[in-house]
Amino acid sequence: MSYILIVGAKSDIAKAVAREYANSGYNIYLAGRKIDTLDAFAKDLTIRYQIEAKLVELDILNFKSHQEIYNSLDKKPVGVITAVGYLGNQELAQKDFNEAKRIIDTNYTGVVSLLNIVANDFEERKEGFIVGISSVAGDRGRKSNYIYGSAKAALTTYLSGLRNRLSSVNVKVLTVKPGFVDTQMTKDLDLPKKLTATPKEVAKDIFNAQQKGKDILYTKWFWRYIMLIIKTIPEWKFKNMSI
Ligand SMILES: NC(=O)c1ccc[n+]([C@@H]2O[C@H](COP(=O)([O-])OP(=O)(O)OC[C@H]3O[C@@H](n4cnc5c(N)ncnc54)[C@H](OP(=O)(O)O)[C@@H]3O)[C@@H](O)[C@H]2O)c1
Repeated sequence: MSYILIVGAKSDIAKAVAREYANSGYNIYLAGRKIDTLDAFAKDLTIRYQIEAKLVELDILNFKSHQEIYNSLDKKPVGVITAVGYLGNQELAQKDFNEAKRIIDTNYTGVVSLLNIVANDFEERKEGFIVGISSVAGDRGRKSNYIYGSAKAALTTYLSGLRNRLSSVNVKVLTVKPGFVDTQMTKDLDLPKKLTATPKEVAKDIFNAQQKGKDILYTKWFWRYIMLIIKTIPEWKFKNMSI
Protein backbone atom coordinates (compact mmCIF):
# COMPACT_ATOMS: atom_id res chain seq x y z
CA MET A 1 0.00 0.00 0.00
CA SER A 2 1.04 3.58 -0.57
CA TYR A 3 2.76 5.88 1.89
CA ILE A 4 1.54 9.21 3.17
CA LEU A 5 3.84 11.76 4.82
CA ILE A 6 2.55 13.55 7.90
CA VAL A 7 4.57 16.65 8.82
CA GLY A 8 4.38 17.93 12.38
CA ALA A 9 3.48 14.38 13.35
CA LYS A 10 3.76 14.96 17.10
CA SER A 11 0.72 17.22 16.94
CA ASP A 12 -2.42 15.83 18.55
CA ILE A 13 -4.37 16.40 15.33
CA ALA A 14 -1.62 14.74 13.26
CA LYS A 15 -1.62 11.64 15.46
CA ALA A 16 -5.38 11.31 15.09
CA VAL A 17 -4.98 11.77 11.32
CA ALA A 18 -2.29 9.07 11.27
CA ARG A 19 -4.71 6.64 12.94
CA GLU A 20 -7.41 7.41 10.35
CA TYR A 21 -5.11 6.73 7.40
CA ALA A 22 -3.51 3.68 9.03
CA ASN A 23 -7.00 2.30 9.63
CA SER A 24 -7.57 2.54 5.87
CA GLY A 25 -4.36 0.64 5.14
CA TYR A 26 -1.96 3.48 4.26
CA ASN A 27 1.68 3.20 5.33
CA ILE A 28 2.89 6.30 7.13
CA TYR A 29 5.96 8.51 7.40
CA LEU A 30 5.76 10.47 10.65
CA ALA A 31 7.94 13.58 10.30
CA GLY A 32 8.88 16.10 12.96
CA ARG A 33 11.65 17.24 15.24
CA LYS A 34 12.88 14.92 18.02
CA ILE A 35 10.72 12.36 16.27
CA ASP A 36 12.19 9.44 18.24
CA THR A 37 9.66 10.35 20.91
CA LEU A 38 7.02 8.90 18.55
CA ASP A 39 8.70 5.49 18.49
CA ALA A 40 6.07 3.82 20.66
CA PHE A 41 3.27 5.52 18.70
CA ALA A 42 4.73 4.25 15.38
CA LYS A 43 5.02 0.71 16.78
CA ASP A 44 1.44 0.88 17.99
CA LEU A 45 0.24 1.89 14.49
CA THR A 46 2.22 -0.97 12.95
CA ILE A 47 0.74 -3.59 15.25
CA ARG A 48 -2.79 -2.25 15.48
CA TYR A 49 -3.33 -1.61 11.77
CA GLN A 50 -0.79 -4.00 10.16
CA ILE A 51 0.88 -1.20 8.22
CA GLU A 52 4.40 0.25 8.05
CA ALA A 53 5.13 3.42 10.03
CA LYS A 54 8.52 5.11 9.72
CA LEU A 55 9.97 8.07 11.60
CA VAL A 56 11.53 10.98 9.69
CA GLU A 57 13.53 13.66 11.53
CA LEU A 58 12.46 17.06 10.15
CA ASP A 59 12.62 20.60 11.47
CA ILE A 60 10.32 22.84 9.44
CA LEU A 61 12.58 25.82 10.24
CA ASN A 62 15.63 24.13 8.72
CA PHE A 63 14.62 25.03 5.17
CA LYS A 64 17.89 23.88 3.60
CA SER A 65 17.40 20.32 4.84
CA HIS A 66 13.99 19.75 3.23
CA GLN A 67 15.05 18.65 -0.24
CA GLU A 68 17.54 16.11 1.11
CA ILE A 69 14.98 14.72 3.57
CA TYR A 70 12.40 14.35 0.80
CA ASN A 71 14.96 12.70 -1.49
CA SER A 72 15.85 10.25 1.26
CA LEU A 73 12.34 8.73 1.43
CA ASP A 74 12.69 5.26 -0.18
CA LYS A 75 9.13 5.21 -1.42
CA LYS A 76 7.73 8.57 -2.38
CA PRO A 77 4.41 9.38 -0.69
CA VAL A 78 1.08 9.61 -2.54
CA GLY A 79 -0.07 12.23 -0.09
CA VAL A 80 1.39 14.84 2.24
CA ILE A 81 -0.39 16.34 5.22
CA THR A 82 1.12 19.30 7.09
CA ALA A 83 0.01 19.74 10.69
CA VAL A 84 3.00 21.76 11.79
CA GLY A 85 2.15 24.97 13.61
CA TYR A 86 3.14 27.41 16.32
CA LEU A 87 0.61 29.69 18.01
CA GLY A 88 3.31 31.64 19.83
CA ASN A 89 2.82 34.61 22.11
CA GLN A 90 1.14 37.55 20.36
CA GLU A 91 2.19 40.15 22.95
CA LEU A 92 5.80 38.99 22.87
CA ALA A 93 5.72 38.93 19.07
CA GLN A 94 4.67 42.61 19.06
CA LYS A 95 7.86 43.50 20.98
CA ASP A 96 10.35 40.86 19.91
CA PHE A 97 10.65 40.24 16.18
CA ASN A 98 12.31 36.87 16.83
CA GLU A 99 9.00 35.57 18.19
CA ALA A 100 7.08 37.09 15.27
CA LYS A 101 9.52 35.49 12.82
CA ARG A 102 9.23 32.11 14.51
CA ILE A 103 5.44 32.24 14.22
CA ILE A 104 5.59 33.27 10.55
CA ASP A 105 8.31 30.79 9.60
CA THR A 106 6.78 27.81 11.40
CA ASN A 107 3.26 28.35 10.05
CA TYR A 108 4.15 29.68 6.61
CA THR A 109 7.73 29.93 5.28
CA GLY A 110 8.74 26.45 6.41
CA VAL A 111 5.60 24.87 5.00
CA VAL A 112 6.16 26.65 1.68
CA SER A 113 9.76 25.41 1.60
CA LEU A 114 8.62 21.80 2.00
CA LEU A 115 5.46 21.90 -0.11
CA ASN A 116 7.30 23.48 -3.04
CA ILE A 117 9.43 20.33 -3.16
CA VAL A 118 6.44 18.01 -2.78
CA ALA A 119 4.42 19.91 -5.39
CA ASN A 120 7.21 19.67 -7.98
CA ASP A 121 7.41 15.90 -7.46
CA PHE A 122 3.62 15.39 -7.60
CA GLU A 123 3.37 17.60 -10.67
CA GLU A 124 5.94 15.48 -12.47
CA ARG A 125 4.30 12.22 -11.35
CA LYS A 126 0.81 13.58 -12.16
CA GLU A 127 -0.56 12.07 -8.95
CA GLY A 128 -0.87 12.81 -5.27
CA PHE A 129 -2.69 14.88 -2.73
CA ILE A 130 -1.65 17.67 -0.40
CA VAL A 131 -3.50 18.60 2.78
CA GLY A 132 -2.47 21.82 4.51
CA ILE A 133 -3.77 22.59 7.97
CA SER A 134 -4.37 26.32 8.09
CA SER A 135 -6.83 27.95 10.50
CA VAL A 136 -9.98 30.05 10.75
CA ALA A 137 -7.60 32.56 12.40
CA GLY A 138 -6.43 33.33 8.84
CA ASP A 139 -9.91 34.45 7.76
CA ARG A 140 -9.77 37.74 9.66
CA GLY A 141 -7.07 39.50 11.69
CA ARG A 142 -7.82 39.92 15.39
CA LYS A 143 -5.71 41.75 17.96
CA SER A 144 -5.29 38.61 20.10
CA ASN A 145 -3.46 36.55 17.47
CA TYR A 146 -2.97 38.48 14.23
CA ILE A 147 0.65 37.45 13.67
CA TYR A 148 -0.31 33.77 13.80
CA GLY A 149 -3.49 34.62 11.84
CA SER A 150 -1.60 36.45 9.11
CA ALA A 151 0.79 33.51 8.67
CA LYS A 152 -2.22 31.20 8.33
CA ALA A 153 -3.85 33.62 5.87
CA ALA A 154 -0.68 33.47 3.78
CA LEU A 155 -0.75 29.66 3.97
CA THR A 156 -4.40 29.61 2.86
CA THR A 157 -3.55 31.79 -0.15
CA TYR A 158 -0.51 29.64 -0.98
CA LEU A 159 -2.64 26.48 -0.90
CA SER A 160 -5.26 28.12 -3.10
CA GLY A 161 -2.62 28.95 -5.68
CA LEU A 162 -1.13 25.47 -5.44
CA ARG A 163 -4.58 23.93 -6.02
CA ASN A 164 -5.03 26.14 -9.06
CA ARG A 165 -1.58 25.17 -10.41
CA LEU A 166 -1.92 21.43 -9.83
CA SER A 167 -5.54 20.78 -10.77
CA SER A 168 -4.62 20.18 -14.43
CA VAL A 169 -2.28 17.33 -13.42
CA ASN A 170 -4.80 15.59 -11.18
CA VAL A 171 -3.13 16.58 -7.89
CA LYS A 172 -5.66 17.56 -5.23
CA VAL A 173 -4.96 20.22 -2.62
CA LEU A 174 -7.15 20.44 0.47
CA THR A 175 -7.08 23.50 2.75
CA VAL A 176 -8.18 22.67 6.28
CA LYS A 177 -9.50 25.44 8.52
CA PRO A 178 -10.10 24.15 12.01
CA GLY A 179 -11.87 26.29 14.58
CA PHE A 180 -11.12 25.49 18.22
CA VAL A 181 -9.53 22.08 18.81
CA ASP A 182 -8.61 20.60 22.17
CA THR A 183 -4.84 20.01 21.76
CA GLN A 184 -1.46 20.88 23.29
CA MET A 185 -1.58 24.17 21.39
CA THR A 186 -4.73 25.35 23.15
CA LYS A 187 -4.27 23.69 26.55
CA ASP A 188 -3.85 27.03 28.34
CA LEU A 189 -6.83 28.69 26.63
CA ASP A 190 -10.33 28.67 28.06
CA LEU A 191 -12.20 27.40 25.00
CA PRO A 192 -16.02 27.25 24.79
CA LYS A 193 -16.88 23.52 24.98
CA LYS A 194 -19.69 23.60 22.41
CA LEU A 195 -17.43 25.12 19.76
CA THR A 196 -14.41 22.92 20.48
CA ALA A 197 -13.65 19.75 18.53
CA THR A 198 -11.54 16.77 19.56
CA PRO A 199 -8.50 15.87 17.43
CA LYS A 200 -10.34 12.67 16.45
CA GLU A 201 -13.34 14.58 15.10
CA VAL A 202 -11.06 16.87 13.10
CA ALA A 203 -9.07 13.88 11.79
CA LYS A 204 -12.23 12.13 10.58
CA ASP A 205 -13.36 15.30 8.81
CA ILE A 206 -9.93 15.65 7.16
CA PHE A 207 -9.84 12.04 5.99
CA ASN A 208 -13.37 12.18 4.56
CA ALA A 209 -12.83 15.53 2.82
CA GLN A 210 -9.51 14.41 1.32
CA GLN A 211 -10.95 11.10 0.08
CA LYS A 212 -13.84 12.98 -1.55
CA GLY A 213 -11.39 15.36 -3.25
CA LYS A 214 -12.73 18.50 -1.55
CA ASP A 215 -10.94 21.85 -1.80
CA ILE A 216 -11.69 23.60 1.50
CA LEU A 217 -12.75 22.12 4.81
CA TYR A 218 -14.00 24.01 7.84
CA THR A 219 -13.96 21.74 10.89
CA LYS A 220 -16.23 21.46 12.77
CA TRP A 221 -18.61 22.30 9.90
CA PHE A 222 -20.30 25.25 11.65
CA TRP A 223 -17.07 27.30 11.55
CA ARG A 224 -17.83 28.05 7.89
CA TYR A 225 -20.90 29.98 9.04
CA ILE A 226 -19.26 31.55 12.10
CA MET A 227 -16.48 32.88 9.89
CA LEU A 228 -18.96 34.03 7.24
CA ILE A 229 -20.61 36.20 9.88
CA ILE A 230 -17.28 37.42 11.28
CA LYS A 231 -16.05 38.31 7.77
CA THR A 232 -19.15 40.33 6.97
CA ILE A 233 -18.81 42.65 10.00
CA PRO A 234 -17.74 46.03 8.56
CA GLU A 235 -14.21 47.13 9.43
CA TRP A 236 -15.41 50.34 11.19
CA LYS A 237 -17.34 48.14 13.61
CA PHE A 238 -14.87 45.23 13.79
CA LYS A 239 -11.97 47.46 14.86
CA ASN A 240 -13.75 48.32 18.11
CA MET A 241 -14.77 44.76 18.93
CA SER A 242 -12.99 42.22 21.15
CA ILE A 243 -13.73 38.80 19.72
N1 LIG B 1 -5.67 23.51 18.24
C1 LIG B 1 -6.41 24.39 17.59
O1 LIG B 1 -7.37 24.97 18.15
C2 LIG B 1 -6.09 24.73 16.16
C3 LIG B 1 -6.97 25.57 15.47
C4 LIG B 1 -6.72 25.89 14.13
C5 LIG B 1 -5.61 25.37 13.51
N2 LIG B 1 -4.73 24.57 14.21
C6 LIG B 1 -3.57 24.06 13.48
O2 LIG B 1 -3.58 22.64 13.54
C7 LIG B 1 -2.24 22.16 13.37
C8 LIG B 1 -1.94 21.14 14.45
O3 LIG B 1 -1.91 21.80 15.69
P1 LIG B 1 -2.35 21.14 17.08
O4 LIG B 1 -3.52 21.88 17.56
O5 LIG B 1 -2.41 19.66 16.95
O6 LIG B 1 -1.18 21.62 18.03
P2 LIG B 1 0.20 20.99 18.48
O7 LIG B 1 -0.07 19.68 19.14
O8 LIG B 1 0.89 22.05 19.23
O9 LIG B 1 0.94 20.72 17.09
C9 LIG B 1 1.85 21.58 16.49
C10 LIG B 1 2.96 20.71 15.97
O10 LIG B 1 3.88 21.50 15.21
C11 LIG B 1 5.16 21.00 15.51
N3 LIG B 1 6.22 21.97 15.27
C12 LIG B 1 6.37 23.21 15.77
N4 LIG B 1 7.52 23.75 15.35
C13 LIG B 1 8.12 22.81 14.57
C14 LIG B 1 9.34 22.78 13.86
N5 LIG B 1 10.20 23.80 13.86
N6 LIG B 1 9.64 21.66 13.14
C15 LIG B 1 8.79 20.60 13.14
N7 LIG B 1 7.63 20.56 13.83
C16 LIG B 1 7.31 21.67 14.53
C17 LIG B 1 5.11 20.69 16.99
O11 LIG B 1 6.16 19.80 17.31
P3 LIG B 1 6.96 19.89 18.70
O12 LIG B 1 6.22 18.94 19.59
O13 LIG B 1 8.33 19.45 18.33
O14 LIG B 1 6.89 21.33 19.17
C18 LIG B 1 3.73 20.05 17.11
O15 LIG B 1 3.81 18.68 16.87
C19 LIG B 1 -1.33 23.39 13.42
O16 LIG B 1 -1.02 23.79 12.11
C20 LIG B 1 -2.24 24.44 14.07
O17 LIG B 1 -1.82 25.74 13.71
C21 LIG B 1 -4.97 24.22 15.50
